[in-house]
Amino acid sequence: MNGFRSLTDLGITPSYSGKVREMVDLGDRLLMVTTDRLSAFDCILPEPLPEKGQILNELSCFWLRGFEETLPTHYITAADAELPPEFARHKRNLSGRWVMVKKAERIPVECVVRGYLAGSGWGEYRRSGAIQGIELPPGLREFGQLPEPIFTPTTKEDSGHDQPIDFAELVARVGQETADQLRETSLALFRKASVFAKLKGLVLADTKFEFGRLNGALTLIDEVLTPDSSRYWTVTSYAENLVRGRAPECLDKQYVRDYLLTLNWDRNPPAPSLPPRVGAEAVRRYKLALTMLAGGARQPDWRLVK
Ligand SMILES: Nc1ncnc2c1ncn2[C@@H]1O[C@H](COP(=O)(O)OP(=O)(O)O)[C@@H](O)[C@H]1O
Ligand SMILES: [Mg+2]
Repeated sequence: MNGFRSLTDLGITPSYSGKVREMVDLGDRLLMVTTDRLSAFDCILPEPLPEKGQILNELSCFWLRGFEETLPTHYITAADAELPPEFARHKRNLSGRWVMVKKAERIPVECVVRGYLAGSGWGEYRRSGAIQGIELPPGLREFGQLPEPIFTPTTKEDSGHDQPIDFAELVARVGQETADQLRETSLALFRKASVFAKLKGLVLADTKFEFGRLNGALTLIDEVLTPDSSRYWTVTSYAENLVRGRAPECLDKQYVRDYLLTLNWDRNPPAPSLPPRVGAEAVRRYKLALTMLAGGARQPDWRLVK
């Protein structure tokens, strides 16, 4: 029950170790392993949360399989029977937390889409009436729905905080054609997922996608629509809480951020530990998001959406 911290504990040296995921480079493919680490405010918390990695991986694979009909994705397989033989002796430790993906040339931006006003988006709107150059109508409330989803990309920094950029800056970095493609594709995926999530009792408030290029084609990579990369609110709490100016019940990382904000932590490493009660509640919420959205299914049933 200690949680999975790193492949290095199994004697495997990852080719790349991010805040949460570790990659083993297999040439044209990557074995992507989701650890139980938790990052908040760009710092990794000291203790991993048992089961968090499997939950994230299962939900991400659920969405990736579902989006295969929409665009190329990096997904190949997550079936334990197809774990490459060189990792077979670690099957028990890796089960449920790995996915084999196609290695892509990363496009180094985070494609954030917001359907509701929360987090840094709310802060910027309150100060300026706009988010990253996108003018919004006056009088919107925190947690309120935007007239339509907006695309608010950020840089992807190797260390430190990602920086918000406006569309012109995105064009300057990746070119007009790719910038248009990133915006249209991100908005389309967000819209489709939002309708599905709503039917399952969750508001998808915002999320972050990453894309790469594979043989020239724009390809969905990284984690997709997990509670680490997205805000999910329960539909049942949403309307009532909005009227009272309260935050909706969240099934995502915001729960942990809210706890950390009650401490006098300056957001520089080292991050504080979570009390066991807070860690367990975070995992309960992540698991509930998985159960509500996927409920054991391999991929979304889009017939519900059409
Ligand atoms: N198919 C892929 N090809 C190449 N890189 C990928 C692919 N999928 C994900 N990545 C990269 O792998 C890393 C995943 O690890 P993560 O813990 O999310 O790192 P980070 O701390 O950068 O967010 C990210 O840097 C992501 O861009
Ligand atoms: Mg990441």
